Amino acid sequence: MSRIADELIEQIRDAADLVGIIGEAVQLKRAGSDYRGACPFHGGTHRNFAVIPKKGMYYCYVCHEAGDVFTYLMKKQGMDYPTAVREVARKVGIVVPEQGTREGPDPREPLFTASAVAQEWFATRLREDPEAGVARSYLADRDIPPEVAGEQGLGFAPPGRAFVDAMKQLGIEERVLVEAGLMVKRDDGTASPRFRGRLLFPIRDLRGRVVGFGGRILGQGEPKYLNSPETPIFHKGTMLYNLHEAKQAIRREEEVILVEGYFDVLRLVLSGTDNVVAPMGTALTPDQAALLHRFAKAALLLYDSDSAGLRATFRAADECLRHGMRVKVATMPEGEDPDTLVRRGGAAALAPILKDAVDVLDRKIQLLERKGWFEGLEHRRDALDRLLPTARAASDPIARDLYLARISERTGVSRAVLEREEASRPPAPAGRPADPSPRTGPPALPGRSRHPGARLEQQLLKTILSGGSWLERARGEIPPETFEVPSHREIFEAVRALAPSAPPAAALERLSPQAQDAFQRVLQRANEERTAGVSFDEEYAGALQGLRARAVSRTLAPVSSVDERQHQLNELPPDQRKRFIIRKAAAKEARRSPSGPSGSDPTQHS
Ligand code: CTP
Ligand code: MN
Repeated sequence: MSRIADELIEQIRDAADLVGIIGEAVQLKRAGSDYRGACPFHGGTHRNFAVIPKKGMYYCYVCHEAGDVFTYLMKKQGMDYPTAVREVARKVGIVVPEQGTREGPDPREPLFTASAVAQEWFATRLREDPEAGVARSYLADRDIPPEVAGEQGLGFAPPGRAFVDAMKQLGIEERVLVEAGLMVKRDDGTASPRFRGRLLFPIRDLRGRVVGFGGRILGQGEPKYLNSPETPIFHKGTMLYNLHEAKQAIRREEEVILVEGYFDVLRLVLSGTDNVVAPMGTALTPDQAALLHRFAKAALLLYDSDSAGLRATFRAADECLRHGMRVKVATMPEGEDPDTLVRRGGAAALAPILKDAVDVLDRKIQLLERKGWFEGLEHRRDALDRLLPTARAASDPIARDLYLARISERTGVSRAVLEREEASRPPAPAGRPADPSPRTGPPALPGRSRHPGARLEQQLLKTILSGGSWLERARGEIPPETFEVPSHREIFEAVRALAPSAPPAAALERLSPQAQDAFQRVLQRANEERTAGVSFDEEYAGALQGLRARAVSRTLAPVSSVDERQHQLNELPPDQRKRFIIRKAAAKEARRSPSGPSGSDPTQHS
């Protein structure tokens, strides 16, 4: 009989209705999230036999028989393993190819071996190699204890060619290393290690086999993270970092927590939150969402709360909704990511944030509310355009229905009209709807605390919040996108929307708590400085000029030719040029994974 792919077996096991199958022969009673019955193996009469659907396991407390759905069928019905697998596959409607394309051993075996050997070697370097001192102190600086690094299998790729020699000694062929993405073949035929001078996170498949690596640069430099390329065993878009470790916890919690990065995963695991995974530097793909759905029906998105993070959140949310999951969104405090938050405040800092997570639609509504989009008529149409895609994304008819009800309630547009509008839309193309739009445009917004120009935004706001002629001028000449720090933008939009005679402080009550804080801080500074005799005319003009330079630099960024960029740069007045160069250095440091166009509305994400 042909060999059944491991991934497929895993999938069949996950899909199996263990309770149903065992329940055919054993009378099971629910006990919490488990089921209990009389043990069919030792023929017990008391309910000592437990079926634990979340783990896909059964266990007898008396005779200690234990196993999964396949062992059950093998032991109870005398099937051999492949037959048991096929039997369950048939029940759950998964097609197992009769004619295996592969006979005998998996041809990818050498790649798995090479990756495993390399991982061991990298981990040993991290522990022992004098050359890895830089990586060890990097981890120490980031508060990652060596034991944790060890448990997670982190490694260090030395800068030189030691890897090449070591692999040769260990009998791993260069050809295999190249195919596994561990070495790079140059045009002249020579090959060199792909990862050099980096801290490595091993990426494992669902069976725990190392299939690739994510390598963080130590200190400054580009790219910050270098991942393994696509190989026969590594497909970035179909796997999730830490899923192998997290899957039991995900089942147990009936929820998966999605974070953005490797360190976020590490930190959460370290603090005792195990049901956490991360995509690897890309937006959540349909395959990844489908994968998650196999383990939990609910996702909690814990991304940065800046606008790039929000945009990524809503896109990931749509993907999960399309796969029938429920989606909640947690909101991090300004400038934090899960790593920094938990590092500083431990699990206690995270708990309330997870607890306060709200359904993705409600999160969108919150954001739109803060912008005052439900107040006047003029924004309502836009608000609908932001909200309806979420309802549309939900593949679960009940979720969609609830969403439409909520949207109707919040926007005051009748349910009937919404439904008519939805019905008149052309059906989404079959297959993979809403492929994430290509990520073009200027570089991503860096995290809030690292916002280049945040100071300038504050300076400008300060004058505007003092009201009078500055507010008037700002209304006329400053587009809201000028403010990239979300709370600044929020403040400006709220103030701008006030009646002409209203004092800026009237906007305060409309603001989110974060924005309220920022508002108070800025206002206080304005008062102090005005008393000190600072010229607000100059402050206003200076800040505006600086921010315009920033906007120019955004349009410069996508220009490919260095010469052309330099040329554009030379066109700027000298002070702006200087600011631009300084800002550029800051942005380089702060750059993060790709994201949509900067400055636009994060609720408009797809
Ligand atoms: N990422 C990537 N390639 C990059 C930048 C980021 O693959 N050039 C991925 C990594 O998985 C990273 C995640 O996107 O962990 C989030 O990016 P970012 O927020 O920039 O990284 P952090 O996890 O905050 O990284 P660090 O804390 O190490 O600075
Ligand atoms: Mn980080």
